[in-house]
Amino acid sequence: MSLVSPLSMAKPLSLVVLVSGGGSNLQAIIEAVQSGAIKATIAAVISNNAAAYGLERARLADIPAISLVHTDYKSRDAFDQALQQTIDEYSPELVVLAGFMRLLGDDFVNHYAGRILNIHPSLLPKYRGLNTHQRALDAGESQHGATVHFVTPALDSGPLIIQASVAINNNDNATTLAARVLEQEHRIYPLAITWFVEQRLRLEQGQVLLDDEVLSQPIAFVSNECK
Ligand code: GRF
Repeated sequence: MSLVSPLSMAKPLSLVVLVSGGGSNLQAIIEAVQSGAIKATIAAVISNNAAAYGLERARLADIPAISLVHTDYKSRDAFDQALQQTIDEYSPELVVLAGFMRLLGDDFVNHYAGRILNIHPSLLPKYRGLNTHQRALDAGESQHGATVHFVTPALDSGPLIIQASVAINNNDNATTLAARVLEQEHRIYPLAITWFVEQRLRLEQGQVLLDDEVLSQPIAFVSNECK
């Protein structure tokens, strides 16, 4: 008779993380997996930039690191299809965009509906797109921050899950502000992934549910939530 219960034999969920640059969010996710906070495996890290330091972070953590360079493909669709095929070889339950600086087509995004997350450095719906820190400063905002959201075809417009705010100081510039926002990103992204992996978070008919409650607004992160 086996002493191993079916539950303890359950295979952990797997994640595929897409990066284009430094990969500090990837690093926070790797550390959360290593500490056991995220009970999942990172099956692969994929980058559209062969020089992305995120790929090196993956190698250092013994995670398959794959570069798939968009300029090697004839069209946007051809790249998306190759990317989808590469991801699907790992059959991940969740695709995590962590500083992936490439627009993804509708077919790609719809293929992963409800199981693809992104982090964006602003308090969405404010400042979709690029240069968010400078734009928040130029607008004279007193608060800025970061948001984790489900990805849907329209850029940075998917249903919001969690936000962390930072106060803007008089002497801030885009670099100092980005650094403080990034610190918060490293807290909220692993937390949202933990919720998803624990099946507490899901997208249903365009609405975000956390612990079976519809979120009418994103969760506002407060630091003691981060265990
Ligand atoms: C982060 O600010 C993220 O919100 C944005 O790109 C940046 C990536 O940083 N999408 P890193 O590569 O995770 O350090």
